[in-house]
Amino acid sequence: MPVGMRILDAVAHKRGFDIGWQSFDWSCERYANSGEMMPADGIEQLADFDAVYLGAVGYPGVPDQVSLWGLLIPIRRRFDQYVNLRPCRMLPGIQSPLAGIGAGDIDYCVVRENTEGEYSSIGGRMFAGTDREMVVQETVLTRTGTDRILRFAFELARSRRRVMTSATKSNGIMHTMPYWDERVADIGRDYPDVRVESYHIDILAAHFVQRPKQFDVVVGSNLFGDILSDLGPATTGSIGVAPSANLNPEKTYPSMFEPVHGSAPDIAGRNIANPVGTVWAGAMMLEHLGQTEAAVAVLAGIERALAGDGPRTPDVGGDASTEAFGDTLLQGVLDELEHAAPNSRASQNFR
Ligand code: IPM
Ligand code: MG
Repeated sequence: MPVGMRILDAVAHKRGFDIGWQSFDWSCERYANSGEMMPADGIEQLADFDAVYLGAVGYPGVPDQVSLWGLLIPIRRRFDQYVNLRPCRMLPGIQSPLAGIGAGDIDYCVVRENTEGEYSSIGGRMFAGTDREMVVQETVLTRTGTDRILRFAFELARSRRRVMTSATKSNGIMHTMPYWDERVADIGRDYPDVRVESYHIDILAAHFVQRPKQFDVVVGSNLFGDILSDLGPATTGSIGVAPSANLNPEKTYPSMFEPVHGSAPDIAGRNIANPVGTVWAGAMMLEHLGQTEAAVAVLAGIERALAGDGPRTPDVGGDASTEAFGDTLLQGVLDELEHAAPNSRASQNFR
């Protein structure tokens, strides 16, 4: 987070605007001390901000369902951040684990439904502790929730290469997934210019590895989108580079920007985490707030920094600290601001 904030502040300064930060210690540490991940009125406290920039949450000793259902997931839901937009791009200067993949060869966005689906609080446990113990967890797809995520994905595809891949599993899951397919077909009629490809999630996962170049926009339910958005960035060399935007597109509520990866407690506090995902998420935040030129400069600056042979973090084969590599990123962004002609890059962070 410090690297991200530093870079965003620098770019804001150069472009003549200010970012007013307020930090909250809402964390597993706070939970350990007070029994709450965030205060009871945490959502109300955030409601007046333009955006939330979130570090990774979770730590051993606090059950994941406590730390996540006590912070991240309520924020996504209460602020109706129904789009989780997760660009996946093969950046320069990083080695893909896949053969024959160079910079730019992988370039798609996972559009993940972010408020319902498999992440549902409907269900429960009966006969706990007996031989008849049973648990039920219901997947919830609403028409509102399904249609709006599909429309977002179609619109995004329209602004890119006009191919939309739908992640389904209607051969095995007999109610929700045929419904999903039905909604894809129905909404798709409004987008005759976008080619729709539909794959069952199992073979889609295989194609992410075997032919990742073909994808443009990939839309999926909450769980499918979650899984694909770890797999995709892994094929680009490190999940540490992956950003995400939890968007409330109507801007009724603040949106939230965070790296895709988890809290990685094994490396916490060691100053070796790759900050690219966090910085790129910051660029998406700038874009959401209307600072498109600054946003474009941040991503271009990341690419510029990576294209040189400067330091790297260990996840991508280097031995630099987060901080040292952060300096390189900052320099890349400053160089970009200095040298790039305004609007030299037509493409935006995720378009
Ligand atoms: C993500 C994460 C979260 C999710 C976890 C931490 C609850 O994996 O943002 O992808 O599943 O949404
Ligand atoms: Mg995930």
